[in-house]
Amino acid sequence: PRHLLSMADLDAGAIRTILDTATQMQDVQRREVKKIPTLRGRTIINLFFEDSTRTRSSFEIAGKWMSADTINITGKGSSASKGESLRDTVRTIDAMGVDALVIRHGASGAAHQVAGWVDAHVINAGDGTHEHPTQALLDAYTMEQRLGSLEGKHVAIVGDLTHSRVVRSNLISLRRLGADVTLVAPPTLMPSGIGAWSAAEGFTLSHDLDAVLGGKGSGEAARPVDALMMLRVQKERMSGGFFPTAREYTVGYGLTRDRLNRLCDANPEIVICHPGPMNRGLEISADAADAAQSLVLDQVSAGVAVRMSVLYHLLAGEESPTESGATSEG
Ligand code: CP
Repeated sequence: PRHLLSMADLDAGAIRTILDTATQMQDVQRREVKKIPTLRGRTIINLFFEDSTRTRSSFEIAGKWMSADTINITGKGSSASKGESLRDTVRTIDAMGVDALVIRHGASGAAHQVAGWVDAHVINAGDGTHEHPTQALLDAYTMEQRLGSLEGKHVAIVGDLTHSRVVRSNLISLRRLGADVTLVAPPTLMPSGIGAWSAAEGFTLSHDLDAVLGGKGSGEAARPVDALMMLRVQKERMSGGFFPTAREYTVGYGLTRDRLNRLCDANPEIVICHPGPMNRGLEISADAADAAQSLVLDQVSAGVAVRMSVLYHLLAGEESPTESGATSEG
């Protein structure tokens, strides 16, 4: 596709291609090669209207390691703070002749709108509570590295489903890669309409984390869990307050030390993911975040290789991903 706006833009074959190229890119990441010339002469703008540590910096690193010129613009430092509209902002940047816009915005659907306004390739780096496709790609990449093929694996995604853009992208991605998915959340953080969506996409819903982790759920949720993805409680998107309370949430849905111990006793091979940033002590304990089973920093590392792969497939044309004059100098 010309843009990456949703995981729905990628069929299973396209996901496989991006993950395979990411493997080559991670070889670059591991070797002493500092830069490859694949995107020399291309200009990538990171346009972030919401804060970010991982996504913005990894897109910037990915572009720089491929010799692109990368520029960061944030909402607060741009003329958006003077009232310039999103349409005028992106058309202004596009008029300078950039090749790609990586956009994060608080409004669901913003990336799709931007793609209709500009000539540049658009990559959705998170739009409101809608999607975060490169997060789902790096999650799949990280889990595959530890678990092998995700075909037939059972992934439980736990937490604030109402406000999560990560869950929607992961559901599409994981189902297309053949994984069985169980979503677990308190009733107050389960999006309305998710039942119909579940019927369409084929995943299981539960409000009972301990039943799912103990293999005592119903349907697919009755199977042992191979990977557990904890989601951040997004308090900043909860204008009406947070229910359950933080204490109740941790008791019912947090990956506490006790739950971690029970899980690891039952299956020492289980992997734990979290997209970050983490609320340590709320949805995930420090013991779990730092456990040998935690892939949190592997996810961060994979983010660079996967975003290199995405940029390559959108921007590089016929160039080979890692050849043609790689240099060991910056
Ligand atoms: N996971 C994620 O998108 O993190 P950042 O908000 O730090 O980019």
